[in-house]
Amino acid sequence: MLKTRVVAFVCCVAMLAHAAAARPAASHPWDNAALSPDARADLVLKAMTQDEKLRLVFGYFGSMKPDSGYTPPPEARMGSAGYVPGIPRLGIPPQWITDAGMGVATQRESADAYRERTALPSGIAIAATWNPDLARRGGAMIGSEAHASGFNVLLAGGVDLQRDPRNGRNFEYAGEDPLLAGTMVGAAVAGIQSEHVISTVKHWALNDQETGRHVYSAEIADDQARMSDFLAFELAIEKGRPGSVMCSYNRVKSVYACENDYLLNQVLKGDWAYPGYVMSDWGAVYSTQRAALAGLDQQSAGVFDTQPWFGAPLKAAVKSGRVPQARLDDMVHRILRSEFAVGLVDHPIADATIDFAADAKVAQAAEEEAIVLLKNDRGVLPLAHTAERILIVGGHADRGVISGGGSSTVFPVGGDVVPGLGPKGFPGPVVYLPSAPMGAIMARVPQTPVRYMDGSDPAAAASEAARSDVVIVFATQWASEDTDVPLTLADGQDDLIRTIAAANPNTIVVLETGGPVFMPWLPQVAGVLEAWNPGSRGGEAIARVLFGEVDASGRLPATFPASLDELPRPKLDGVDLPTGTAFTVNYDEGAAVGYKWFDKNGLKPLFPFGYGLSYTRFGYSDLQASVVDGRLTVRFTVTNTGERAGKDVAQIYVGPRDGGWEAPRRLAGWSKVDLQPGASTSVSMTVDPRLLSTYDSAGRRWVVTDGPFVVSLGSSSAEIKTSVEVSEPVQPYR
Ligand code: BGC
Repeated sequence: MLKTRVVAFVCCVAMLAHAAAARPAASHPWDNAALSPDARADLVLKAMTQDEKLRLVFGYFGSMKPDSGYTPPPEARMGSAGYVPGIPRLGIPPQWITDAGMGVATQRESADAYRERTALPSGIAIAATWNPDLARRGGAMIGSEAHASGFNVLLAGGVDLQRDPRNGRNFEYAGEDPLLAGTMVGAAVAGIQSEHVISTVKHWALNDQETGRHVYSAEIADDQARMSDFLAFELAIEKGRPGSVMCSYNRVKSVYACENDYLLNQVLKGDWAYPGYVMSDWGAVYSTQRAALAGLDQQSAGVFDTQPWFGAPLKAAVKSGRVPQARLDDMVHRILRSEFAVGLVDHPIADATIDFAADAKVAQAAEEEAIVLLKNDRGVLPLAHTAERILIVGGHADRGVISGGGSSTVFPVGGDVVPGLGPKGFPGPVVYLPSAPMGAIMARVPQTPVRYMDGSDPAAAASEAARSDVVIVFATQWASEDTDVPLTLADGQDDLIRTIAAANPNTIVVLETGGPVFMPWLPQVAGVLEAWNPGSRGGEAIARVLFGEVDASGRLPATFPASLDELPRPKLDGVDLPTGTAFTVNYDEGAAVGYKWFDKNGLKPLFPFGYGLSYTRFGYSDLQASVVDGRLTVRFTVTNTGERAGKDVAQIYVGPRDGGWEAPRRLAGWSKVDLQPGASTSVSMTVDPRLLSTYDSAGRRWVVTDGPFVVSLGSSSAEIKTSVEVSEPVQPYR
């Protein structure tokens, strides 16, 4: 049944695609690709009727909504997030819209209706690679699968900062540092758009927890926001040039994000001169006039809102002059401009096959660099091929690897291998991708007995552990949109690990989590790997790292706290309130997010930002910092001083010697290097002047800090190996 449904869907896409690809015979002046996207958009705009303009600013949900009796327009792709009709007479294609950052998702309308596509590791995993090239390749892979699946808009690009490790969507984002998150997400967006699929960045802004996401108001001083969450968006937008930005559900300074003049008109379109369009999140619009005047350009999936605000009400508002015609024209111009800039018009959806084998390799390569080796005592890893008996426990490791939940859920090629788990409706189900770590481990030690136990009987697992050389426990956490997650592993997994570790000191824990978790058993186990949501070839990647076929080269993109007391908000705001009750989240920590908060307050986390072990050793030398042509330029040498080939992430942190920032230091750059044993490489980088500045809200500008600066080279935010001072003046940003 499942296969039939999927095959039927593939063939429908192809048929629709042909219809969509049929371009009008007459050529239009805007077909001239030598013109700028703005010029082309203006030409189309002049040829449009008022109703055609209005058609582009109102979106339909692309799936059935049984609770409201809603059915999508027949032209929408099955199980998709959205659809916006095109203008066939002008050669403007519809927008076929799908989630999300890990791959081409399906909004499941029924248990057997979904498309099977390749899943990348989660966003936080991609960030953990600290390798923008992998992020770009991953983006290009999912962009090409989207295009081949009949989609030209992908709701990827999650870049909200990890202000709280309990945020249920941390897995979709890129960690806690604005430079790292902005760089990695910008690269992913650029990759997606290289396939002529518009990407968003989302959710603008400060959607930093899921609890009460439709009602809370985020309060933060403007300068602090500019140096943290906003900077992550600013960098992702600069580097990725997304066609669209998605405004979020929550309020900021009491005003809903999708009708927030400060966020949309002033910061995004004003200060940053963003030329693309703002689309709303699904069910995030509360008005016509307010939203239109504040800078919203497209209402997504209007059925999720109480009114089709950008449908008939917008038409009436423009007619009466409450919304100027120029504003509607600007909305349409922005949408068309992005369609030309990204290539939607010049590269229409066309029939294409997907090379799933090649795409799986992209997912595997990303996961291999995403896995973070957190602990490795007595050289328990890499695993020896000589082990006489291996026990694998838990995490459905005999069948697959877990993925995150909610709108971004990708249904993998081969289907969900542990069906029936989690919520039946949204944000479920819990999906396991068919890449079993156990099979991949067994393939590497064909002579060794490898046994799997599900862990439901800890005593039995412990007695088997006592008879094994090595025990690998797989611990999972399902994180999802719409709800936040505790940092304690569910279902007694901590007790299971403790019991097993007590029976066998050679216990290795592989975590498949959405983000940070507590590890009360840490002193008892010999090894720990953080594998995140490992994607379509996660099992293979985990085995490759376990056996040392590739180095462990992931580094944490977020601090793992030792306790809730260390966090700016030990208790999540809103958890005790009845659903729908408005509340405020005060981000009093300002720009001191993650490691900056820990450094400022002298707190010792479980694992610091930037941390991760390798199977080899690296030495740093010759650190020099000087100002060249007004830019802070840093040079240093990295040497592989160990016996194995490996990859390191050498990190540069900068802070003013005499203080004055939100925290002692900020990540200012990094380099991921790949070195043979004994080999050295010299690294040179320049530092973005915004990272050497504070934001002056009154003057709406970055003000570069007077030196001297302390420039530090380290292997994490907490392991600084060497520092130098530089006193020459740096040129301000722009
Ligand atoms: C999520 C968005 C997503 C949209 C469409 C919303 O619930 O917040 O990230 O893109 O749904 O599925």
